[in-house]
Amino acid sequence: MGLSREIRPGVFSVGVIDWDRRLFDELIPLPDGTSYNAYVVIGSEKTALIDAADPPFAEALLANLETLGLDRLDYVVASHAEQDHSGAILAVLDRFPMAKVVCTPRCQELLIEHLKIPTEKFATAEDRATLSLGEKTLEFFYTPWVHWPETMSTYLREDEILFSCDFFGSHFATSDLFADRRIVYEPAKRYYAEIMMPFRAIIRKNLEIVDSLSIKMIAPSHGPIHSDPSFIVDAYRDWSSEDVKNEVVIPFVSMHGSTKLMVDYLVDGLMARGIGVKRFDISASDVGKMAEALVDAATLVLGTCTVLAGPHPNAATVAFLANALRPKTRFASVIGSYGWGGKTVKVIQDMMPLLKVEMIEPVLAKGLPTEEDYQALDRLADEILKKHQQLGIA
Ligand code: FEO
Repeated sequence: MGLSREIRPGVFSVGVIDWDRRLFDELIPLPDGTSYNAYVVIGSEKTALIDAADPPFAEALLANLETLGLDRLDYVVASHAEQDHSGAILAVLDRFPMAKVVCTPRCQELLIEHLKIPTEKFATAEDRATLSLGEKTLEFFYTPWVHWPETMSTYLREDEILFSCDFFGSHFATSDLFADRRIVYEPAKRYYAEIMMPFRAIIRKNLEIVDSLSIKMIAPSHGPIHSDPSFIVDAYRDWSSEDVKNEVVIPFVSMHGSTKLMVDYLVDGLMARGIGVKRFDISASDVGKMAEALVDAATLVLGTCTVLAGPHPNAATVAFLANALRPKTRFASVIGSYGWGGKTVKVIQDMMPLLKVEMIEPVLAKGLPTEEDYQALDRLADEILKKHQQLGIA
């Protein structure tokens, strides 16, 4: 049985909810599932589908489309070539063979390469081009790097709806069509952290495009629709700015408890100095939560024990991810314990070349931390406070 829901006259939500998905990209936990949103815009002359769905949900998407009783579909707007939105396009084209796929030239290339969609099925859209559906008009805005480089957003002029694909989305399965701002903030921030944080300078440029439009609704392709666009746009402005908060993120791994003793001592010391702390035992933590914590924090302190003369592999994974996500973090340090020696600090530093951080003197203890080691952690907490004060955030 299919389902479609009208969000404005002639505009329908026909996407599918993936309640059970618990991992994205075989990496990012999805505690709340996700959705692959798709929308149908019915004009007086033409009809368009905006985005499709992940391949396993092609039949569900088609069933949703059937509820509208469409005798034709003229366009399939592909905002983004990644399969969670484009994977079901071939199934849609099988059902509606006359439909043209509308996308950026770069997206066309990717869809041909990834999905083998025949070239003749495409009609590429220039930046700011319009497409009339009759009394409804679609306007396309290139919004690159709201994950991949080829992405665009579609503005429905008459209804003032922006279809933004991953941009402003959230991995959040809900029966609610519209977002409750108290609930969506966290999954939306987490989603921004996971895929958009490295590109925040371009995100800020894309926000200028959004600011230039009169928007009543932002309809992303994951999670609920924003009927209060200024809420999510302002949140993005905050996240993508270069402003940092008086916070320290401390992901750590400890095999025999010494590194944990050091982490907990530092956590208390930072809190006593009025600094916010987000502490993650890496072995038991959600990598998405750690990414989200890195959106705002001024400082990253990685806690690691030593394995075979280097950092614990779990800590190395966090260093690798932090380097890839390129948060706006300004300062970094390393603390931890070792058994007999090693090059932990150098290995971690070498793993994070893209982080524009100032390194603060690391604290490494041989075995259980001694009084001297605790004094070094006091000095580290003092130094972090001083750095945050110099930024005017503490
Ligand atoms: Fe939701 Fe980048 O695809």
